[in-house]
Amino acid sequence: MPDDLRSPGPHPGLLDALRQILGPHGLLTEASDLEPYLADWRALYRGEAMAVLRPASTEEVSACVKLCAERGITIIPQGGNTSMVGGATPEAKPNQVILSLARMNRVLDVDTADMTMTVEAGLVLARAQQVAAEHGALFPLSLGAEGTAMIGGLLSTNAGGNTTVRYGNARELMLGLEVVLPDGGVIHGLRRLRKDNTGYALRHLFVGAEGTLGIITAAVLRLFPAAKETATALCAVPSEDAALALFRRFRAADEGAVRAFEYMSGIGMGLVLNHIEGTSLPIGQDAQHFVLVDLSASREGAGLRGLLESVLEAAMEAGEVEDAALAESEAQRAALWKLREEHPEAQKRAGASVKSDVSVPVSAVPEMIRRSSAALRELIPGSRPVPFGHMGDGNIHMNLEQPEGMAAEDFLARAHDIMDCVNAIVRELGGSFSAEHGVGRLKTDMMEEWRGGAELSAMRAIKAALDPRGIMNPGKVLP
Ligand code: FAD
Ligand code: MLT
Ligand code: ZN
Repeated sequence: MPDDLRSPGPHPGLLDALRQILGPHGLLTEASDLEPYLADWRALYRGEAMAVLRPASTEEVSACVKLCAERGITIIPQGGNTSMVGGATPEAKPNQVILSLARMNRVLDVDTADMTMTVEAGLVLARAQQVAAEHGALFPLSLGAEGTAMIGGLLSTNAGGNTTVRYGNARELMLGLEVVLPDGGVIHGLRRLRKDNTGYALRHLFVGAEGTLGIITAAVLRLFPAAKETATALCAVPSEDAALALFRRFRAADEGAVRAFEYMSGIGMGLVLNHIEGTSLPIGQDAQHFVLVDLSASREGAGLRGLLESVLEAAMEAGEVEDAALAESEAQRAALWKLREEHPEAQKRAGASVKSDVSVPVSAVPEMIRRSSAALRELIPGSRPVPFGHMGDGNIHMNLEQPEGMAAEDFLARAHDIMDCVNAIVRELGGSFSAEHGVGRLKTDMMEEWRGGAELSAMRAIKAALDPRGIMNPGKVLP
């Protein structure tokens, strides 16, 4: 970047020019107004920004980006700010603005003939699910942060969550994108085509780019038929291997019926029961391993309850399931899901924790959990491994809770040792250190080792081609 554009200090007229574009409600500059945008959900990072830009249209985003590009101001795109890897948090540097998509939250179109929904990037996921349901359809993406995370953020991280096992990651749920490029140019790609091999699939570049290549302003999402029948059970299982064997049983019985298959440990369940009001465990008070299995079908009379019972019966006979609680109502189903979904919040309340969002081939999940848990206990005596998550995708959150009584800062000072300890095992098993949360700011130092050589060079070439001034979310993804 030219030196005159990098120069620190005030930028005369910049805020006035931004206010002209955005109007009085579109620009925040007061310290108290900026505060919620400056730190991440995990409280790992805190940064600085001259202002928060809250555009209401793609034209406003484009005009702001153009102006910032001319002045060498870096831009941090932000959706719901639920990133687990500090992806949406600015650095502690001058000359930065946060661009929040929160005001761009309209549903532009719902088409139940084509089964698509076109939405602005600031639409909150729970609202997208609700709008789809109001039209008798399903938008299947589902995760613990769905009440806050926004479509633009979910696509930018290629979020996974509980239903990836059936419907894929956010990428698989996207047909078209509108994107503002780092020079202010706009890719108008809101196409609803199921097939579109017209040159490079540029739309896929921005999915998972974590805001480093441009700003997603709107997307065409895929809809699915609404569920007409569900069947849900929480199972206490004797081991990680038994949990995987149970997954295989369901897959063999009816792969299309498995909507979610989530693993939880006894330690994690204990944290939820201790720290989250309104939770209780219907089975397996002393169990060390749990599975939540959720079946759904878009056909009435699909016989899911019968399927659930027969698979569990066979699994019990084989010694793979010790006990199971089957939901008898929507309220009971929600209560079982609460035990799973409150894992992140329970961990947060229980003290300091370090997250390792890793993936391995599905068949290697039990070995990864066992070996990582043992290695972590040895690394930090008294620490509590809390593996949980999306077993059906081979994606386990191999998290570690601090030892009781240890100072949080002392534990967090070991964060990179802890992640390295898990990563070494994941690497041996042919896995990835970044399964669904992304690289963000937290894991850039791992990129050289895991993706060095031709892969990282290609990523850098793409970044340089699209963002030669390096103004889009610097310090994220690429080391
Ligand atoms: P933000 O946190 O605001 O941003 C995330 C990244 O995307 C940043 O790099 C940001 O710069 C960029 N970005 C945001 N909006 C745009 C845009 N419009 N254009 C370009 N770049 C943009 N994640 C999962 O995958 N699966 C889970 O199961 C899961 N569970 C979670 C549970 C809890 C309780 C919490 C707090 C988080 C969880 N997450 C999970 C992580 C998080 O919710 C996801 O990463 C989500 O996709 C982030 O969405 P957001 O709108 O909050 O994005
Ligand atoms: C989840 O699946 O609940 C989150 O992605 C995991 C986490 O908090 O580590
Ligand atoms: Zn997850």
